[in-house]
Amino acid sequence: MTDKTNETVMEKIVSLCKRRGFVYQGSEIYGGLAGMWDYGPYGVTLRDNIKNMWWKRFVIDREDMYGVKAAILMHQDVWKASGHVGGFSDPLVECKKCKRRFRADHLEDKKKCPECGGELGEEKKFNMMFKTHVGATEDEASVSYLRPETAQGMFVNFKNIRDTFSPKLPFGLAQIGIAFRNEIAPRDFIFRLREFEQMEIEYFVDPRDEKKVDETFNTLFDEQMAYLNDIGLNARKIHKIDVPAEDRAHYSKRSVDTEFDFPFGQKELLGLAYRTDFDLKAHIEKSGVDLSYFDEETKERFVPHCIEPTFGVDRLMLAVLSDAYTEDEVGGEKRVYLKFAPKVAPVKVAVFPLLKNKPQLVEKAKDVYAALKKEIDGVEFDDNGNIGKRYRRQDEIGTPFCVTVDFDTVEKDAGVTVRDRDTGEQVRMSVEEVVEKIKEACR
Ligand code: GAP
Repeated sequence: MTDKTNETVMEKIVSLCKRRGFVYQGSEIYGGLAGMWDYGPYGVTLRDNIKNMWWKRFVIDREDMYGVKAAILMHQDVWKASGHVGGFSDPLVECKKCKRRFRADHLEDKKKCPECGGELGEEKKFNMMFKTHVGATEDEASVSYLRPETAQGMFVNFKNIRDTFSPKLPFGLAQIGIAFRNEIAPRDFIFRLREFEQMEIEYFVDPRDEKKVDETFNTLFDEQMAYLNDIGLNARKIHKIDVPAEDRAHYSKRSVDTEFDFPFGQKELLGLAYRTDFDLKAHIEKSGVDLSYFDEETKERFVPHCIEPTFGVDRLMLAVLSDAYTEDEVGGEKRVYLKFAPKVAPVKVAVFPLLKNKPQLVEKAKDVYAALKKEIDGVEFDDNGNIGKRYRRQDEIGTPFCVTVDFDTVEKDAGVTVRDRDTGEQVRMSVEEVVEKIKEACR
C-alpha cells in the first residue's frame, strides 16, 4: 500500500513537516527567504537526537576524540589559507533576457535559459562564501566570512589540543555547528540550504605508515555506516561512491561519498575525504605558527595527515524523514505515519486516558505520564478528541508507543495497554514494564 512516488512524496513530507511542527519555511510571514528553513518543536528534538547519537558515538564513547566549538566568524586569513577565498566557487551563468542565474553544471543546455528560453551569458565563477565585516569599520582589514565548513575551526585549534592534552597519533577533533553557503540554487526542501549544520571530524594520522592510513580511512567509513544504521536508515538506500579525481575537492587525495535514495533521486548524504597535510601546511605557511607533531619514540617531527568524515545534519534529517514516511491502512482506514527508529523519534511514548470526561481515568493517566516522564525523555500526554484521532496524531509524528489508561487500570490495577505504532497491536503490561520496553527499544 505504500505510495512513495517521487515528487508527490516530497510534497507530502513538506506538508506533514509544517502541519506537525517539524519544519517551517524561514521568514514565512514575509514570503520566505530562499534556502532557509526553521525547525519547530518536533524538528528540533529530531535534530537533537540525530546530533546526540553522533556525538555519543564519535566523541563520548571514544578516547581518541576531542570535542570543540569554534566561532563561526574566523580571521579572514583562515579562508585565504584554506583556499576558500580563491577557490570556493560554483560555475554561474546568467540569462541575458530575464537575468535569472543558474548553476552551469546543473543545466543540460548551457546556451538556453530553462525559464524563459533567452540566451545565457558566459560562465563565471561565483564564490559561495557570505562576506561580512567585523566591527564598526567596513574596510578590507575587517572582512570576515560566515564559515562554509566547520572543518577550519578544528585545524586552527589543532595546536591548542596538542598543547593542552598531548594526544598521541591518531586522534581527532570533532565539532557540530552551523555553516553557510550562498548556494546559487538552493532546492529540495532541507537538502540544499544556504544555512545548514555539519558534524565533522578532522582525524589526524601518521603519514609514514600508508597502509595504516588506508586502514583508518576504511574504518572511519565503516563507522559512518554504523552510525547510519544507528539512526535507522534503510541500508538498501545507501550507496558508496568512490569520487573520481576530477570531482574531488581541491584538498582531497581520496574521497568516498555516501549517497542516499531521496524521493528526488540518489544524492550525496555525507562524505569522507583524505585531506592529507593540505590544511595544516597551509595554516603553518600563512600564520607562521608551528603545527607539527613530535614523535617521542622515533624523535621525528612531521606534519600529520588528516582524514575527514563529514555529515550534514539537515540532509540526515531529510533522509530519516523520507525513509520513515509510510502510508498504509489500519482497520480499513488509510493512515500516514513516520516509521522512525525509536531512538530518533522525538516522542517515544504518548499517554492517554481512554475517555477524557472520566476524571478518575484522566487523573490516573496523569500519574502514569508523570511516572514515565521521570524515566524517559520524550513523553506526551494527550486527551484531545477520541482515541482514534490521538493514535493518528501520534502516528504522524512517529511516536513508537501509545499507552492507554482504561477502567481496568483504575479498578483492577491491571496495568495499561501499550499500542505498537507499526503493527497497531496492543498489549497489557505494568508501567514498570512499559519503561523497560521503551528503554530497550531505544538502546
Ligand atoms: N568539510 C568538508 C565539507 O564541507 P562538503 O561535501 O562540501 O564537505 C559536507 O560538505 C556535507 O555537508 C555534505 O555531505 C552535506 O551533507 C552537507 N552539505 C553541504 N552543502 C550543503 C548545503 N548547501 N545544504 C545542506 N547540507 C549541505
